[in-house]
Amino acid sequence: MERVLSGIRSTGNLHLGNYFGAIQNFLKLQNENDCYFFIADYHSLTTHPAPENLFENTRQVLIEYLAAGIDPEKCTLYVQSDVPEIPELYLLLNMNAYQGELERCTTFKDKVRKQPDNVNAGLLTYPVLMAADILIHRATKVPVGKDQEQHLEMARTFAKRFNFMYHTDYLIEPVAYNFGNALVKVPGLDGSGKMGKSENNAINLIDEPEVIRKKVMKAMTDGGPTVPNQPMPESIANLFAIMKIISEPDTYQFFIEQYNSCTVRYGDMKKKLAEDIIVFTTPIRERIKDISKDADYLNKVAKLGKDKARASATETISNVRKIIGFRSF
Ligand code: TRP
Repeated sequence: MERVLSGIRSTGNLHLGNYFGAIQNFLKLQNENDCYFFIADYHSLTTHPAPENLFENTRQVLIEYLAAGIDPEKCTLYVQSDVPEIPELYLLLNMNAYQGELERCTTFKDKVRKQPDNVNAGLLTYPVLMAADILIHRATKVPVGKDQEQHLEMARTFAKRFNFMYHTDYLIEPVAYNFGNALVKVPGLDGSGKMGKSENNAINLIDEPEVIRKKVMKAMTDGGPTVPNQPMPESIANLFAIMKIISEPDTYQFFIEQYNSCTVRYGDMKKKLAEDIIVFTTPIRERIKDISKDADYLNKVAKLGKDKARASATETISNVRKIIGFRSF
């Protein structure tokens, strides 16, 4: 059994892209591994959220993960800021993280370009905090997308450096959890690329039926095919791709055949797609609402996660402190 760990950004509502991507993977992982999933609220401080949003964002992400089926009994589901051993390990790792390597990190360089007025030390040392997240539980596998591969590489570097410096093999070098072809990519509604929260092309799990209808009906289409069996433009292919994921195979087949015989009416197709999305998301949306109202349950979940996470984290930090040479009087 592997110890699998993943951090979850604490901003924004989940959309269908998250649901069929990361969440489906988490649902599988939690049945087969010793999983640690946490909401990375410390990381979110690099962009200075307003105090009135910090907790709400974390709470909403927790609610939506629970509603999507993440089971706090099967895995360790916790909030990063509930585990003080993480910032302690971050401090210790910072002593062996070098300015040059942190400045060379591509995500840091991106941020410098995008937010030149807020190049704070938290941003520079983001990969060190992420390494602390992983190393604190001595996780072996981390499911990461392409954008996080360099961070994971740095976590390995910091673990290796610590072990070398203190002549130990205590910290574990984590490797990427490889999903192979299992990753489902949900395209956006705007005719290009994948569904993403900043792209404004997403259907959120909490969207009400009226909102879903509006978004789908507004999705870009064209005048329709005029020659049978032609390849589709991207905007149309995207709608079919979403339909393939959400709708019954018969529905998908029906509209594909209409497309190929140039009789497809996009209005009808989008209406059907919107209704199928509504059928799919309604139970999740209702669970989100139920859980939102259940403060006792949320409290219990957070406490359980915190206790489990701290049990593992305190053991690691106490060993790390000993290895470094701290002693008690
Ligand atoms: N940086 C990750 C992201 O932006 C979130 C994250 C924080 C994370 N700590 C982590 C992911 C540890 C994996 C492991 O998506």
